This record gives sequence, C-alpha cells and structure tokens, in this order.
Amino acid sequence: MCGIIGVIGERNATPILLEGLKRLEYRGYDSAGVAVSHKGAILSRRAEGKLHNLEQELIATPLIGYSGIGHTRWATHGPPVKANAHPHSSERVAVVHNGIIENYFDLRQELLAEGVEFSSATDTEVIPHLIERELAKGIEVEQAVRDAILQLEGAFALGILIQGADEQLFAVRRGSPLILGLGEGENFIASDATPLVPYTRKMLYLDDNDVAILQKDGVRVTDLAGRPVKRVIKQSQVSADLSEKGEYRHFMQKEIFEQPMVLGETLKEFINPAKGTIELGSLLSAIDIAKVSTVNIVACGTSWHAGMVGRYWLEKLAGVPVSVDIASEYRYREPPTLPGGVTVVISQSGETADTLAALRFAKSQGQKVIAIVNVAESTISREADGVLYTRAGPEIGVASTKAFTTQLMVLAVIAVCFGRERNHISAAEEKGYVAELLHVPALMEQVLCLDKDIFTIARKLMHAKGFLFLGRGTCFPIALEGALKLKEISYIHAEGYAAGEMKHGPIALIDEDLPVVVVAPRDRLFEKVVSNLEEARARGGQLVVITTAPEVGGADCHADDMIPMVACGDFIAPILYVAPLQLLAYHIAVLKGTDVDQPRNLAKSVTVE
Ligand code: G6P
Repeated sequence: MCGIIGVIGERNATPILLEGLKRLEYRGYDSAGVAVSHKGAILSRRAEGKLHNLEQELIATPLIGYSGIGHTRWATHGPPVKANAHPHSSERVAVVHNGIIENYFDLRQELLAEGVEFSSATDTEVIPHLIERELAKGIEVEQAVRDAILQLEGAFALGILIQGADEQLFAVRRGSPLILGLGEGENFIASDATPLVPYTRKMLYLDDNDVAILQKDGVRVTDLAGRPVKRVIKQSQVSADLSEKGEYRHFMQKEIFEQPMVLGETLKEFINPAKGTIELGSLLSAIDIAKVSTVNIVACGTSWHAGMVGRYWLEKLAGVPVSVDIASEYRYREPPTLPGGVTVVISQSGETADTLAALRFAKSQGQKVIAIVNVAESTISREADGVLYTRAGPEIGVASTKAFTTQLMVLAVIAVCFGRERNHISAAEEKGYVAELLHVPALMEQVLCLDKDIFTIARKLMHAKGFLFLGRGTCFPIALEGALKLKEISYIHAEGYAAGEMKHGPIALIDEDLPVVVVAPRDRLFEKVVSNLEEARARGGQLVVITTAPEVGGADCHADDMIPMVACGDFIAPILYVAPLQLLAYHIAVLKGTDVDQPRNLAKSVTVE
C-alpha cells in the first residue's frame, strides 16, 4: 500500500524524502510525489510511475525546504496518473495519505456544492479542502486539523503541511500504520521504521486517533479533543542496510536462493539441536498449550496458504481441532469462539489491515493470539500475546517466497511443540520431527540446484494461456501457492486444486494446451495422486510432475516433464516442494518480460481492507 515519509529539521528535506521513498517503494509504485515548505509557500513535485520518474522531475526542477512530506502510491480511488499522485493540495494545505476515506463521496459532494474545485479522482483530496474550510473559520491551525479529521470515516495515516505553519508538520493515524522518528534537531514520520533508521533509532508508535505535531526540536501527541497523550518511545532494531540485489537479477530470485540460509536462521531460534527438542521458552508463556481447545489460523494471501499447511500439521501432531480463515472473511463473519481457543495470525509485514482486524476481534473474544511475523516492531507483533518471528530478513519482491517457507518452518515448530505439550507425540517422535526440520536447509540447497532444468521447462510452457496446479494433503496448499506465484508475476491465469477434487470441475479444462503441474511427494497419498495424474494424462494434459527422482527410489510417472526432487520425509515435503514452483513462476515471468519484483496492481503490504 501507499508509503508515507515526512521530515522537519534544519537541512534540506528533499534528499531525505527521496531516500525514504526509495526504502518505501516496495509499498506502492503507481506514482510518487513530494511537497516542501519553503519561505512561506508549499511547493510540490509529482510523477506517474516508478520513483525514478519523480527523481528526474526533481533533477529538472529541484525543491528546497526544511520540512516536507513524500508519498509512494498504490491506487485505490482513481487511476495511477499524475493528477492522482500525492501530495494533494488546497490553497494552503498539502496532504499525503495511506488508507481509504470511506465517506469521501459525501464529503466531496458537500464541498463541490460549496464551490470547491477538485483536481483529482482520489478520496484523499477531500482532506486538504476540509482543513482549508476549517482554517477559513479563523480558528488556530492545530484545531483546524482536528476538526477536519473528526469529519473523516475510514482508515488513514496522514502527513500534513500547512502554509503559515512552516515550523510544524502534522501527522494523524487511524487504522493505517504511522510512526514518528525522533532525531537531534529533526523529527520524522513514516509508514514503517525502514526509512527512518539511517537518521534515528528512537521511534514513537502512534495509536489510533492520535494527532502529532512535529517541530524540529520536539514532538507533541494529542487525542482528537486536543488533550496531550503519552506514547511509549522504543529503540528500533530494524537494520539500516537497504537490501541489495547483489549478483542476482531480481530481488525475488535472490530471496528464493536465500531460503536455505533463512530457514536455518528461523529454526535456530526455536530448537535445542543437542537435545533434539523444540524450545519456545517464554514466547508462548501466556498460553497453557495442554488445555488449548481449538486453534484458528487467520491470514491473507501467501500467508493464508502457509496457515493451510499448518492445519494439517497441527491436527496430526497435536490432535487439536484447527480451522483456517481468510482474514477479510473472518473479521466480518465474527465466528463464535470456544473458551481456551488460540488464534494464530500469520503476516510477513505485520501490517495487513484485515489480519490486524482479525487479531483484534479474536482478542475481544478472549482468545489468546500468537502471531507469526517477519517484520519486527510491526503493529501485529506489538498487539499479539506471543510472537514467533520468521527470520527471513527484508523481503522486497512483492511475490512472497522466503517469508512463506520460513512461516512454514515456524508452523512446523509450533505443531511439534503443541504435540509434545499435549502428549500427542512421544519424545522419540519429537526428536524425529526435529531431525527432519534440521535437514531442511541442506535439502533446500539441493532443490535449488534444479534451477536450470526448471528454466528449460519454463521456456517450453511460457506461452500457455492457463495452468492447473494439483496437490493433496499438505501439498494441496502448495498447489494453491504455485498457482498464486504464477498469476502474481507472469499474469497467466492459473488455478490450484486439490487433486482429488479435479474431476468435479477443472478436468473439463484439460486439453493439450493446458499444462498440469502436479506436486507429488512420495507420501501416503502418492498412489492417489498418480491416479489423478493418469486422469489428466488420459485427456491430453501436458503433465509436469514434481516428485522424487527415480534414481533415489522415486517413481517414473510418465510425465511430459519431471522435476526430480531429493528424497525427504513427508513432514517437511511442503517446505521443499514449493521451491520448484517459485522458480517456475520466476522464470516464466522473466521470459515474458514482466516486472518481476513490482508486478502490476500488487502491493507488498496491504494496509487497507
Ligand atoms: C499481499 C502480498 C502477498 C502477501 C499478502 C499478505 O497481497 O503481495 O505477498 O502474502 O499481502 O501479506 P502479509 O504481510 O500479511 O503476509
């Protein structure tokens, strides 16, 4: 979603804004813009498309000012054109916004009737005009901001500059993330800590309905009535290094190949390798695992697929009833919850609006909430009762890869731990599972050696109009994930299906033009998958089968193409079997020439519902 940056201090704001936007560009890249306060005027530059275009604009017509706001946009209202790029301005006010103003239509009609002229199709533009209307009443600036905010419905994080109040920068939060960075002689606002850590590690996290007034020498936070509120200041641990692609062509490729390392890093946090046990220490101290009645897993997108695998593991290893929900459905379904239930929310970013709302609903129902999160200091990690971090490091590619496999690793760890604490698995079984998990990084290295073979298959299939991905058991969600990866970055329609369900619909699609990718580890369902595969073959489908290589005891499946996997235990198979699907999607996208790291219409962090 949109990214916000803002600064007020003693040096030129523009380079700080631009550098900050580079670090936030993963959030949105439809258009970008900045505005600065300079000698009593507010000046802005905006450009359609990637940040590079704004940079060129600023080279051609530079801006200087000691306070400023910047924005990278992910379009919600109005197409991604320059006129809709932020900042949006009225005569004296400039605003950057992340979120959605739900009552913007009524407000716009009201303002139009009063003679206000609009220059964009955005929901955001009502905000500067509302503040302007309040200012016209002659009230002081701070009050005008608050009175305007009181008229807004929806979710928003705002950065606001007001002409005539050059010594101040305003920030407002309701629903969407916004933090303040407290520096020496300068203060900042941003959507997350990454653009701020080069300047300061002192972060102040705003709560909903906070209005912050930043000056170069200090910061005040008030509620919407203007009463001062106190917010905790924390030292950020976020790394200041902006990830580089290094030898890789794309971040996604780099992140796929980082998986052996980050899977090891993630596992290391949770095991005692000498004893062969899982150790979560105090991480889940808030939860009496033996007495947990139900587990409800809630997430979006790729994280939801991880949750679906987690269900199979938790049910089998811990004997606990598990449900899995898409957060945007769960939050409004408001399902009844059982006493003693645990909700597990999974989120790479820790900011996804629907997942956060699901967490809050679960807590309001008395459920304990465990979060599996990649981004430290994110809202979800701050609000959960217990947090288990994936150690994937920054994930820049919009299509999630290493975050997914590390989420699986954490879910596997939770399943083993729950199994032990509930006496559902023996100490020997725990050791066996831990031994399998310890093999994952090395096995993943071997799987990634299939890269060249997968490239060859990608070249053969890149012109297909559609794909079908099939899997059973823990590899059913892997089939869904394979289809999602392909859709996200190559724009080819793909469906993931439970292999056994194929004959209830998708089989009608099969002909010689439809590649059918079958995820078929040699587990107890293998023979069943082979039957499904034969059904597809009988109808002329082009079969790509991912299974154990014949030379390591696997089957020869009479596939058109086979991706020969290393032998591995059933438990860890989904973690390994997703990697060939990531590579297949990656190579097809590169061959088609799409923007792999920033595919059209998608955002890395979805902070609106
Ligand atoms: C977006 C991203 C996906 C991600 C999903 C959930 O759609 O593009 O890669 O899986 O959001 O995000 P989260 O940060 O909550 O895991």
